[in-house]
Amino acid sequence: MNPNHCDIKDLGLADEGLRRIRWADNDMPVLQQIRNEFRKAQPLRGLRMSACLHVTAETANLVRTLQAGGAEVVLCASNPLSTQDDVAASLVRDFDIRVYAIRGIDNQGYYRHLKAAAEHKPQITMDDGCDLVTLLHDKYKKNMSEVIGSMEETTTGVIRLRAMERSGVLKLPVIAVNDAKTKNMFDNRYGTGQSTVDGIVRATDVLLAGKNVVVAGYGWCGRGFANRCRGMGSNVIITEIDPIKALEAAMDGFRVMPMDEAAGIGDIFCTLTGNKHVVRKEHFKKMKDGAIVANSGHFDVEIDIPALAKLAKQVNRGVRNHVDEYVMPNGNRIHLLAEGRLINLAAAEGHPASVMDMSFATQALAAAYMAEHGKELENKVYDPPSDIEDKVSMMKLRSMSLTIDKLTKEQVSYLSDWTEGT
Ligand SMILES: NC(=O)c1ccc[n+]([C@@H]2O[C@H](COP(=O)([O-])OP(=O)(O)OC[C@H]3O[C@@H](n4cnc5c(N)ncnc54)[C@H](O)[C@@H]3O)[C@@H](O)[C@H]2O)c1
Repeated sequence: MNPNHCDIKDLGLADEGLRRIRWADNDMPVLQQIRNEFRKAQPLRGLRMSACLHVTAETANLVRTLQAGGAEVVLCASNPLSTQDDVAASLVRDFDIRVYAIRGIDNQGYYRHLKAAAEHKPQITMDDGCDLVTLLHDKYKKNMSEVIGSMEETTTGVIRLRAMERSGVLKLPVIAVNDAKTKNMFDNRYGTGQSTVDGIVRATDVLLAGKNVVVAGYGWCGRGFANRCRGMGSNVIITEIDPIKALEAAMDGFRVMPMDEAAGIGDIFCTLTGNKHVVRKEHFKKMKDGAIVANSGHFDVEIDIPALAKLAKQVNRGVRNHVDEYVMPNGNRIHLLAEGRLINLAAAEGHPASVMDMSFATQALAAAYMAEHGKELENKVYDPPSDIEDKVSMMKLRSMSLTIDKLTKEQVSYLSDWTEGT
Protein backbone atom coordinates (compact mmCIF):
# COMPACT_ATOMS: atom_id res chain seq x y z
CA MET A 1 0.00 0.00 0.00
CA ASN A 2 1.30 3.43 -0.90
CA PRO A 3 1.76 5.13 2.51
CA ASN A 4 0.41 8.35 0.96
CA HIS A 5 -2.98 6.67 0.67
CA CYS A 6 -3.39 6.35 4.41
CA ASP A 7 -2.85 8.28 7.64
CA ILE A 8 -1.28 6.30 10.44
CA LYS A 9 1.21 7.06 13.19
CA ASP A 10 4.32 5.16 12.12
CA LEU A 11 4.88 2.41 9.58
CA GLY A 12 7.88 1.35 11.66
CA LEU A 13 5.48 -0.16 14.25
CA ALA A 14 4.26 -2.78 11.77
CA ASP A 15 6.33 -5.73 13.07
CA GLU A 16 4.67 -5.58 16.49
CA GLY A 17 1.27 -5.05 14.84
CA LEU A 18 1.74 -8.14 12.68
CA ARG A 19 2.59 -10.23 15.76
CA ARG A 20 -0.59 -9.05 17.47
CA ILE A 21 -2.79 -9.63 14.44
CA ARG A 22 -1.48 -13.20 14.16
CA TRP A 23 -1.86 -13.83 17.89
CA ALA A 24 -5.49 -12.66 17.78
CA ASP A 25 -6.14 -14.75 14.67
CA ASN A 26 -5.14 -17.91 16.60
CA ASP A 27 -8.21 -17.32 18.76
CA MET A 28 -10.57 -16.53 15.87
CA PRO A 29 -11.16 -19.95 14.27
CA VAL A 30 -14.65 -19.14 12.98
CA LEU A 31 -13.51 -16.00 11.21
CA GLN A 32 -10.55 -17.93 9.79
CA GLN A 33 -12.90 -20.51 8.32
CA ILE A 34 -15.13 -17.80 6.86
CA ARG A 35 -12.02 -16.14 5.37
CA ASN A 36 -11.19 -19.40 3.60
CA GLU A 37 -14.76 -19.72 2.32
CA PHE A 38 -14.70 -16.07 1.16
CA ARG A 39 -11.42 -16.62 -0.68
CA LYS A 40 -13.11 -19.26 -2.83
CA ALA A 41 -16.62 -17.83 -3.19
CA GLN A 42 -15.65 -14.11 -3.54
CA PRO A 43 -19.01 -12.82 -2.20
CA LEU A 44 -17.71 -9.21 -2.07
CA ARG A 45 -15.86 -9.24 -5.36
CA GLY A 46 -15.10 -5.72 -6.63
CA LEU A 47 -17.15 -3.96 -3.96
CA ARG A 48 -15.86 -0.78 -2.32
CA MET A 49 -16.27 -1.04 1.45
CA SER A 50 -15.57 1.53 4.17
CA ALA A 51 -15.36 0.34 7.75
CA CYS A 52 -15.38 2.70 10.72
CA LEU A 53 -14.38 0.39 13.58
CA HIS A 54 -12.05 0.28 16.57
CA VAL A 55 -8.68 -0.37 14.93
CA THR A 56 -7.58 -3.41 16.91
CA ALA A 57 -5.93 -6.73 16.06
CA GLU A 58 -9.36 -8.41 15.91
CA THR A 59 -10.67 -5.77 13.51
CA ALA A 60 -7.58 -6.35 11.37
CA ASN A 61 -8.63 -9.98 10.99
CA LEU A 62 -12.15 -8.95 10.02
CA VAL A 63 -10.81 -6.53 7.41
CA ARG A 64 -8.53 -9.26 6.02
CA THR A 65 -11.61 -11.46 5.70
CA LEU A 66 -13.54 -8.81 3.77
CA GLN A 67 -10.53 -8.33 1.52
CA ALA A 68 -10.27 -12.10 0.97
CA GLY A 69 -13.91 -11.97 -0.11
CA GLY A 70 -12.96 -9.57 -2.90
CA ALA A 71 -13.75 -6.20 -1.30
CA GLU A 72 -11.61 -3.11 -1.64
CA VAL A 73 -11.60 -1.93 1.97
CA VAL A 74 -10.80 1.39 3.62
CA LEU A 75 -10.63 1.40 7.43
CA CYS A 76 -10.95 4.39 9.74
CA ALA A 77 -11.18 4.54 13.54
CA SER A 78 -14.50 4.70 15.36
CA ASN A 79 -12.93 6.26 18.44
CA PRO A 80 -9.84 8.46 18.76
CA LEU A 81 -8.54 6.59 21.80
CA SER A 82 -9.03 2.99 20.72
CA THR A 83 -6.61 2.76 17.79
CA GLN A 84 -3.70 0.35 18.11
CA ASP A 85 -1.09 2.19 16.03
CA ASP A 86 1.03 -0.92 15.46
CA VAL A 87 -1.96 -2.80 14.06
CA ALA A 88 -2.77 0.12 11.76
CA ALA A 89 0.83 0.05 10.51
CA SER A 90 0.78 -3.68 9.82
CA LEU A 91 -2.53 -3.45 7.95
CA VAL A 92 -0.95 -0.92 5.61
CA ARG A 93 2.42 -2.65 5.20
CA ASP A 94 1.49 -6.33 5.27
CA PHE A 95 -2.10 -6.47 4.06
CA ASP A 96 -2.36 -3.60 1.63
CA ILE A 97 -5.31 -2.00 3.42
CA ARG A 98 -5.87 1.77 3.38
CA VAL A 99 -6.08 2.85 7.02
CA TYR A 100 -6.90 6.27 8.48
CA ALA A 101 -6.40 6.03 12.24
CA ILE A 102 -4.01 7.51 14.78
CA ARG A 103 -4.41 6.98 18.50
CA GLY A 104 -5.14 10.18 20.43
CA ILE A 105 -5.93 12.24 17.34
CA ASP A 106 -8.01 15.39 17.95
CA ASN A 107 -11.62 15.77 16.86
CA GLN A 108 -10.68 17.52 13.63
CA GLY A 109 -8.31 14.70 12.67
CA TYR A 110 -10.92 12.10 13.62
CA TYR A 111 -13.41 13.67 11.21
CA ARG A 112 -10.74 14.05 8.51
CA HIS A 113 -10.27 10.27 8.71
CA LEU A 114 -14.00 9.63 8.55
CA LYS A 115 -14.12 11.87 5.48
CA ALA A 116 -11.40 9.79 3.81
CA ALA A 117 -13.54 6.68 4.40
CA ALA A 118 -16.59 8.47 2.94
CA GLU A 119 -14.61 9.59 -0.11
CA HIS A 120 -13.82 5.98 -0.94
CA LYS A 121 -17.46 6.08 -2.20
CA PRO A 122 -18.36 2.90 -0.33
CA GLN A 123 -21.02 0.54 -1.66
CA ILE A 124 -21.15 -1.22 1.70
CA THR A 125 -20.25 0.34 5.04
CA MET A 126 -19.56 -1.03 8.48
CA ASP A 127 -19.96 1.25 11.45
CA ASP A 128 -19.36 1.12 15.20
CA GLY A 129 -21.41 4.00 16.58
CA CYS A 130 -23.02 5.23 13.31
CA ASP A 131 -20.57 8.11 12.70
CA LEU A 132 -19.80 7.08 9.11
CA VAL A 133 -23.44 6.57 8.13
CA THR A 134 -24.30 9.93 9.71
CA LEU A 135 -21.51 11.65 7.75
CA LEU A 136 -22.68 10.04 4.49
CA HIS A 137 -26.23 11.28 5.16
CA ASP A 138 -25.06 14.80 6.09
CA LYS A 139 -22.26 15.56 3.64
CA TYR A 140 -22.25 12.93 0.88
CA LYS A 141 -25.90 12.84 -0.15
CA LYS A 142 -24.84 12.70 -3.80
CA ASN A 143 -23.10 9.34 -3.23
CA MET A 144 -25.96 7.75 -1.31
CA SER A 145 -27.50 6.12 -4.38
CA GLU A 146 -24.36 3.97 -4.73
CA VAL A 147 -24.56 2.62 -1.17
CA ILE A 148 -26.13 -0.84 -1.05
CA GLY A 149 -26.31 -0.97 2.73
CA SER A 150 -24.56 -0.91 6.06
CA MET A 151 -23.85 -3.00 9.14
CA GLU A 152 -23.84 -1.57 12.68
CA GLU A 153 -21.69 -3.06 15.44
CA THR A 154 -22.83 -1.40 18.66
CA THR A 155 -25.93 -0.63 20.75
CA THR A 156 -25.45 3.14 20.59
CA GLY A 157 -25.20 3.03 16.79
CA VAL A 158 -28.37 0.95 16.52
CA ILE A 159 -30.21 3.46 18.76
CA ARG A 160 -29.15 6.31 16.43
CA LEU A 161 -30.12 4.35 13.30
CA ARG A 162 -33.55 3.43 14.66
CA ALA A 163 -34.08 7.14 15.45
CA MET A 164 -33.16 7.95 11.81
CA GLU A 165 -35.60 5.29 10.59
CA ARG A 166 -38.38 6.67 12.81
CA SER A 167 -37.75 10.20 11.52
CA GLY A 168 -37.92 8.92 7.92
CA VAL A 169 -34.39 10.13 7.08
CA LEU A 170 -32.60 6.77 6.79
CA LYS A 171 -31.47 6.38 3.19
CA LEU A 172 -30.04 2.86 3.26
CA PRO A 173 -30.83 -0.57 4.68
CA VAL A 174 -28.87 -1.51 7.81
CA ILE A 175 -28.27 -4.86 9.45
CA ALA A 176 -28.03 -4.34 13.20
CA VAL A 177 -25.24 -6.83 13.81
CA ASN A 178 -25.19 -5.65 17.43
CA ASP A 179 -28.63 -7.19 17.89
CA ALA A 180 -27.48 -10.65 16.83
CA LYS A 181 -27.51 -13.06 19.77
CA THR A 182 -24.12 -14.25 18.51
CA LYS A 183 -22.96 -10.69 19.22
CA ASN A 184 -24.58 -9.04 22.21
CA MET A 185 -24.98 -12.11 24.44
CA PHE A 186 -21.27 -12.82 24.12
CA ASP A 187 -19.33 -9.75 22.98
CA ASN A 188 -21.24 -7.19 25.08
CA ARG A 189 -21.58 -9.47 28.09
CA TYR A 190 -18.37 -11.47 28.33
CA GLY A 191 -16.16 -9.26 26.15
CA THR A 192 -17.05 -5.88 27.62
CA GLY A 193 -17.38 -7.45 31.06
CA GLN A 194 -13.87 -8.85 31.15
CA SER A 195 -12.09 -6.09 29.23
CA THR A 196 -13.70 -3.32 31.32
CA VAL A 197 -12.31 -4.95 34.46
CA ASP A 198 -8.99 -5.25 32.61
CA GLY A 199 -9.02 -1.55 31.61
CA ILE A 200 -9.83 -0.29 35.11
CA VAL A 201 -7.19 -2.51 36.69
CA ARG A 202 -4.50 -1.63 34.15
CA ALA A 203 -5.25 2.08 34.54
CA THR A 204 -5.26 2.11 38.34
CA ASP A 205 -3.88 -1.21 39.67
CA VAL A 206 -6.83 -1.11 42.09
CA LEU A 207 -7.68 -4.20 44.16
CA LEU A 208 -11.26 -5.13 43.33
CA ALA A 209 -11.81 -7.42 46.31
CA GLY A 210 -13.81 -5.69 49.01
CA LYS A 211 -14.47 -2.56 46.97
CA ASN A 212 -17.92 -1.09 46.38
CA VAL A 213 -18.31 -1.08 42.61
CA VAL A 214 -21.24 0.93 41.23
CA VAL A 215 -22.38 -0.26 37.81
CA ALA A 216 -24.69 2.10 35.92
CA GLY A 217 -26.86 0.08 33.53
CA TYR A 218 -27.78 -3.61 33.75
CA GLY A 219 -27.96 -4.31 30.03
CA TRP A 220 -25.68 -6.80 28.28
CA CYS A 221 -22.49 -4.89 29.06
CA GLY A 222 -23.51 -3.99 32.61
CA ARG A 223 -24.50 -7.59 33.43
CA GLY A 224 -21.15 -8.83 32.19
CA PHE A 225 -19.13 -6.25 34.09
CA ALA A 226 -21.16 -6.62 37.31
CA ASN A 227 -20.77 -10.39 37.33
CA ARG A 228 -17.04 -10.28 36.67
CA CYS A 229 -16.56 -7.74 39.50
CA ARG A 230 -18.56 -9.97 41.82
CA GLY A 231 -16.27 -12.83 40.85
CA MET A 232 -13.31 -10.68 41.91
CA GLY A 233 -14.84 -10.13 45.36
CA SER A 234 -16.35 -6.66 44.92
CA ASN A 235 -19.61 -5.55 46.50
CA VAL A 236 -21.55 -4.60 43.41
CA ILE A 237 -24.32 -1.99 43.32
CA ILE A 238 -26.50 -1.56 40.24
CA THR A 239 -28.23 1.65 39.17
CA GLU A 240 -30.95 1.41 36.50
CA ILE A 241 -33.86 3.33 35.01
CA ASP A 242 -35.66 0.24 33.65
CA PRO A 243 -37.75 -1.50 36.34
CA ILE A 244 -37.41 -4.95 34.73
CA LYS A 245 -33.63 -4.74 34.46
CA ALA A 246 -33.53 -3.42 38.04
CA LEU A 247 -35.62 -6.39 39.22
CA GLU A 248 -33.37 -8.78 37.34
CA ALA A 249 -30.31 -7.23 39.01
CA ALA A 250 -31.95 -7.53 42.43
CA MET A 251 -32.85 -11.18 41.84
CA ASP A 252 -29.35 -11.86 40.55
CA GLY A 253 -28.32 -10.84 44.06
CA PHE A 254 -27.05 -7.29 43.51
CA ARG A 255 -27.95 -4.21 45.55
CA VAL A 256 -30.05 -1.81 43.50
CA MET A 257 -30.38 1.90 44.28
CA PRO A 258 -30.41 5.29 42.55
CA MET A 259 -27.08 6.89 41.62
CA ASP A 260 -27.81 9.63 44.12
CA GLU A 261 -27.60 7.08 46.94
CA ALA A 262 -24.78 5.03 45.42
CA ALA A 263 -22.63 8.12 44.85
CA GLY A 264 -21.57 8.34 48.50
CA ILE A 265 -20.96 4.58 48.84
CA GLY A 266 -18.99 3.65 45.72
CA ASP A 267 -15.24 3.25 45.49
CA ILE A 268 -15.35 2.58 41.74
CA PHE A 269 -18.03 3.78 39.31
CA CYS A 270 -18.50 2.54 35.77
CA THR A 271 -21.17 3.64 33.31
CA LEU A 272 -22.40 1.18 30.65
CA THR A 273 -25.72 2.68 29.59
CA GLY A 274 -25.45 4.32 26.15
CA ASN A 275 -27.04 7.36 27.83
CA LYS A 276 -25.88 10.86 28.66
CA HIS A 277 -24.80 12.43 31.99
CA VAL A 278 -25.56 9.35 34.04
CA VAL A 279 -22.95 10.48 36.58
CA ARG A 280 -23.20 14.22 37.07
CA LYS A 281 -22.66 17.24 39.34
CA GLU A 282 -24.87 16.19 42.27
CA HIS A 283 -23.17 12.76 42.29
CA PHE A 284 -19.58 14.07 42.18
CA LYS A 285 -20.36 16.24 45.20
CA LYS A 286 -21.20 13.14 47.26
CA MET A 287 -18.26 10.95 46.21
CA LYS A 288 -15.64 9.70 48.65
CA ASP A 289 -12.02 10.78 48.49
CA GLY A 290 -10.21 8.65 45.90
CA ALA A 291 -13.33 7.53 44.02
CA ILE A 292 -12.52 6.08 40.60
CA VAL A 293 -14.89 7.00 37.77
CA ALA A 294 -14.83 5.24 34.39
CA ASN A 295 -17.05 4.69 31.37
CA SER A 296 -17.39 1.73 29.06
CA GLY A 297 -20.40 2.94 27.08
CA HIS A 298 -19.79 3.97 23.48
CA PHE A 299 -19.57 7.76 23.74
CA ASP A 300 -17.73 9.92 26.26
CA VAL A 301 -20.93 11.63 27.41
CA GLU A 302 -22.04 9.19 30.12
CA ILE A 303 -19.97 11.05 32.72
CA ASP A 304 -20.64 14.79 32.79
CA ILE A 305 -16.98 15.78 32.53
CA PRO A 306 -17.59 19.51 31.92
CA ALA A 307 -19.56 19.61 35.20
CA LEU A 308 -16.74 17.76 36.98
CA ALA A 309 -14.19 20.22 35.60
CA LYS A 310 -16.32 23.17 36.66
CA LEU A 311 -16.76 21.78 40.15
CA ALA A 312 -13.08 20.99 40.70
CA LYS A 313 -10.80 23.54 42.37
CA GLN A 314 -7.80 21.86 40.76
CA VAL A 315 -7.16 19.27 38.04
CA ASN A 316 -3.97 17.19 38.05
CA ARG A 317 -3.61 15.61 34.62
CA GLY A 318 -1.90 12.27 34.18
CA VAL A 319 -1.27 11.41 37.83
CA ARG A 320 -0.87 7.99 36.25
CA ASN A 321 -1.34 6.89 32.65
CA HIS A 322 -5.05 7.27 31.80
CA VAL A 323 -5.84 8.90 35.18
CA ASP A 324 -6.75 12.56 35.75
CA GLU A 325 -7.29 13.74 39.31
CA TYR A 326 -10.04 16.27 40.01
CA VAL A 327 -9.79 17.89 43.43
CA MET A 328 -13.17 18.91 44.83
CA PRO A 329 -13.69 22.06 46.91
CA ASN A 330 -13.80 19.87 50.08
CA GLY A 331 -10.42 18.35 49.18
CA ASN A 332 -11.78 14.98 47.99
CA ARG A 333 -10.04 13.63 44.90
CA ILE A 334 -11.98 12.03 42.07
CA HIS A 335 -9.98 9.95 39.61
CA LEU A 336 -11.41 10.06 36.10
CA LEU A 337 -10.13 7.33 33.79
CA ALA A 338 -9.33 7.73 30.07
CA GLU A 339 -11.11 11.10 29.82
CA GLY A 340 -14.40 9.24 30.09
CA ARG A 341 -13.85 7.25 26.90
CA LEU A 342 -14.35 3.49 26.59
CA ILE A 343 -12.00 2.30 29.32
CA ASN A 344 -11.61 -1.22 27.95
CA LEU A 345 -10.24 0.07 24.65
CA ALA A 346 -8.37 3.09 25.98
CA ALA A 347 -6.47 1.42 28.82
CA ALA A 348 -6.65 -2.25 27.79
CA GLU A 349 -6.88 -4.05 24.47
CA GLY A 350 -10.63 -4.23 24.02
CA HIS A 351 -12.45 -7.53 23.88
CA PRO A 352 -10.50 -10.77 23.77
CA ALA A 353 -10.18 -12.19 20.26
CA SER A 354 -12.12 -15.33 21.09
CA VAL A 355 -15.35 -13.38 21.64
CA MET A 356 -14.76 -10.99 18.73
CA ASP A 357 -14.51 -14.13 16.61
CA MET A 358 -18.29 -14.46 16.85
CA SER A 359 -19.13 -10.78 16.39
CA PHE A 360 -16.87 -10.41 13.38
CA ALA A 361 -17.92 -13.72 11.84
CA THR A 362 -21.47 -12.35 12.04
CA GLN A 363 -20.26 -9.03 10.52
CA ALA A 364 -18.52 -10.78 7.63
CA LEU A 365 -21.51 -12.99 6.82
CA ALA A 366 -23.86 -10.00 7.13
CA ALA A 367 -21.69 -8.12 4.61
CA ALA A 368 -21.96 -11.03 2.17
CA TYR A 369 -25.74 -11.10 2.75
CA MET A 370 -25.93 -7.35 2.12
CA ALA A 371 -23.94 -7.72 -1.11
CA GLU A 372 -26.38 -10.38 -2.34
CA HIS A 373 -29.71 -9.08 -1.01
CA GLY A 374 -29.16 -5.37 -0.20
CA LYS A 375 -30.92 -4.15 -3.31
CA GLU A 376 -34.09 -6.01 -2.26
CA LEU A 377 -34.12 -4.40 1.20
CA GLU A 378 -35.94 -1.23 2.25
CA ASN A 379 -34.29 1.69 4.04
CA LYS A 380 -34.82 0.14 7.47
CA VAL A 381 -32.89 -1.37 10.34
CA TYR A 382 -33.00 -5.17 10.05
CA ASP A 383 -32.19 -7.90 12.54
CA PRO A 384 -29.43 -10.19 11.30
CA PRO A 385 -30.78 -13.21 9.36
CA SER A 386 -31.26 -16.15 11.74
CA ASP A 387 -29.38 -18.60 9.49
CA ILE A 388 -26.27 -16.45 9.97
CA GLU A 389 -26.70 -16.73 13.75
CA ASP A 390 -27.17 -20.52 13.51
CA LYS A 391 -24.11 -20.90 11.30
CA VAL A 392 -21.86 -18.80 13.56
CA SER A 393 -22.96 -20.49 16.78
CA MET A 394 -22.55 -24.00 15.31
CA MET A 395 -19.11 -23.12 13.96
CA LYS A 396 -18.07 -21.68 17.34
CA LEU A 397 -19.28 -24.78 19.17
CA ARG A 398 -17.34 -26.97 16.75
CA SER A 399 -14.21 -24.89 17.27
CA MET A 400 -14.60 -25.53 21.00
CA SER A 401 -14.98 -29.27 20.30
CA LEU A 402 -18.51 -29.17 21.67
CA THR A 403 -21.45 -31.03 20.20
CA ILE A 404 -25.12 -30.76 21.09
CA ASP A 405 -28.19 -32.96 20.82
CA LYS A 406 -30.42 -33.07 17.76
CA LEU A 407 -34.21 -33.14 17.91
CA THR A 408 -35.64 -36.62 17.33
CA LYS A 409 -38.49 -37.01 14.81
CA GLU A 410 -40.84 -37.52 17.75
CA GLN A 411 -39.66 -34.27 19.36
CA VAL A 412 -40.02 -32.31 16.12
CA SER A 413 -43.62 -33.44 15.79
CA TYR A 414 -44.33 -32.86 19.53
CA LEU A 415 -43.04 -29.31 19.33
CA SER A 416 -45.16 -28.49 16.30
CA ASP A 417 -48.35 -30.17 17.53
CA TRP A 418 -50.94 -28.42 19.69
CA THR A 419 -53.20 -31.45 20.24
CA GLU A 420 -50.99 -33.36 22.66
CA GLY A 421 -51.64 -32.07 26.20
CA THR A 422 -52.18 -33.40 29.72
N1 LIG B 1 -16.92 -0.91 25.81
C1 LIG B 1 -17.19 -1.63 24.75
O1 LIG B 1 -16.31 -2.23 24.13
C2 LIG B 1 -18.61 -1.80 24.34
C3 LIG B 1 -19.04 -2.99 23.73
C4 LIG B 1 -20.38 -3.12 23.40
C5 LIG B 1 -21.26 -2.08 23.65
N2 LIG B 1 -20.79 -0.91 24.19
C6 LIG B 1 -21.64 0.23 24.50
O2 LIG B 1 -22.08 0.11 25.86
C7 LIG B 1 -23.34 0.75 26.04
C8 LIG B 1 -24.33 -0.24 26.63
O3 LIG B 1 -24.54 -1.31 25.72
P1 LIG B 1 -25.51 -2.56 26.09
O4 LIG B 1 -25.40 -3.48 24.92
O5 LIG B 1 -25.27 -3.03 27.46
O6 LIG B 1 -26.92 -1.80 26.03
P2 LIG B 1 -28.30 -2.26 26.70
O7 LIG B 1 -29.34 -1.47 26.01
O8 LIG B 1 -28.39 -3.76 26.73
O9 LIG B 1 -28.14 -1.76 28.22
C9 LIG B 1 -28.09 -0.41 28.60
C10 LIG B 1 -28.77 -0.35 29.97
O10 LIG B 1 -28.57 0.95 30.53
C11 LIG B 1 -29.77 1.33 31.20
N3 LIG B 1 -29.79 2.80 31.36
C12 LIG B 1 -30.08 3.76 30.45
N4 LIG B 1 -29.99 4.98 31.02
C13 LIG B 1 -29.62 4.79 32.31
C14 LIG B 1 -29.35 5.65 33.40
N5 LIG B 1 -29.50 6.98 33.30
N6 LIG B 1 -28.99 5.10 34.59
C15 LIG B 1 -28.86 3.75 34.74
N7 LIG B 1 -29.11 2.87 33.73
C16 LIG B 1 -29.48 3.39 32.53
C17 LIG B 1 -30.85 0.80 30.28
O11 LIG B 1 -32.09 0.69 30.96
C18 LIG B 1 -30.29 -0.56 29.88
O12 LIG B 1 -30.68 -1.59 30.77
C19 LIG B 1 -23.71 1.27 24.64
O13 LIG B 1 -23.26 2.59 24.52
C20 LIG B 1 -22.92 0.36 23.72
O14 LIG B 1 -22.73 0.96 22.45
C21 LIG B 1 -19.50 -0.77 24.58
